Amino acid sequence: MRNIIERMLESFYGKYGDRNSKPVLFFSPGRVNLIGEHTDYNGGFVFPCALNFGTYLMIRNNGGKNIRFSTLNFTEEHSVPVKEEYKRIERSWVNYPLGVINEFAKLGYLLPGSDLLFYGDVPNGAGLSSSASIEMVTACAVNEITGAGLALIDLVKLSQKAENIFVGMNCGIMDQFASGFGKKDHAIFLNCDTLDYENVPLILGDYSLIITNTNKRRGLTDSKYNERRAECDKAVEYLQAYRKIRNLSETGTDELALLNKYIPDEIVLKRARHVITENGRVLEAVKVLKENNIARFGELMNQSHDSLRGDYEVTGIELDTLVYEGRKIAGVLGTRMTGAGFGGCTVSIVHKDHVEEYINTITEAYTRKTGLNADFYQPSVGNGSGRIEF
Ligand code: GLA
Repeated sequence: MRNIIERMLESFYGKYGDRNSKPVLFFSPGRVNLIGEHTDYNGGFVFPCALNFGTYLMIRNNGGKNIRFSTLNFTEEHSVPVKEEYKRIERSWVNYPLGVINEFAKLGYLLPGSDLLFYGDVPNGAGLSSSASIEMVTACAVNEITGAGLALIDLVKLSQKAENIFVGMNCGIMDQFASGFGKKDHAIFLNCDTLDYENVPLILGDYSLIITNTNKRRGLTDSKYNERRAECDKAVEYLQAYRKIRNLSETGTDELALLNKYIPDEIVLKRARHVITENGRVLEAVKVLKENNIARFGELMNQSHDSLRGDYEVTGIELDTLVYEGRKIAGVLGTRMTGAGFGGCTVSIVHKDHVEEYINTITEAYTRKTGLNADFYQPSVGNGSGRIEF
């Protein structure tokens, strides 16, 4: 981390000048979801953890009338006059922080003229929540600088709102929550309806967490995501005929028979079945992890992927190749897609003695079957968002 900070500081002074006035620094992590996919916007359970990589933000009041944005990741820079309401900038990374600044402005907390420099080490568009981490890091900084003093949960909700409204991606709350509330070496068991949560120690013993990136370009992810949301709303509508429910997760695994009876549309029925069975898998996964039963945890991860492929239909050849080739390798207890799907990453639990074999075998098989190259990360589980003293 020291290297990153030094690089950022050098670049910050290079761009914005005045070496006598030190900026402040914030960090927000990306996340990987262990199990509980496409359940958050259905009021269900999720089980993500924060990663040791994420987005850094150096920020300083510039005494002027403009907010200046730059990043070490792209060359594109922007300068925006301080206002009470901001407009989207077409196709720009700046919409993530600007959307958050806009939400604060709506609450009456105007960020004064400031210089901002970002740096992110989460791979972009890989389903590891680079967007949530840039939103959350901005929210933490603006919260402190404007003296708004919002609680962490409000920063999470505000960041989600910025993504929904300003960026235009209708995500649930999981990513921003994990980025905000992550705890070192723990996963977060979150009820997305009540927002009650529990930090569960993630003790994997002889096993490692491996993230494998398909490196498939995102393409249609956002439109397909919204289509799935609409299908779940439709399922709720059908089930209303049986009982008044607010969301799909109010239907338990013991009520699966209801789906056949009340949902006439085969596609909608499959989507509902995924959400309901996935909630059941999260509950069991949390239980078996607490009992140190990593083997069962892995089986549940596998079942989760199968359901996301068969019932929810959000996988695709790239993710499926990683998963089904991965399952053939000794020492792989569980492997599944993580995040929205269609591309992005898988998360796997692999015995430490077999990590090298996993990487070598998958590297070859994945390229042979898809023509793409996979990337591998062995992350550690880190803390959530906050200020860093340096
Ligand atoms: C994306 C969204 C999350 C969640 C997942 C799927 O990561 O941002 O809110 O819906 O997809 O579980």
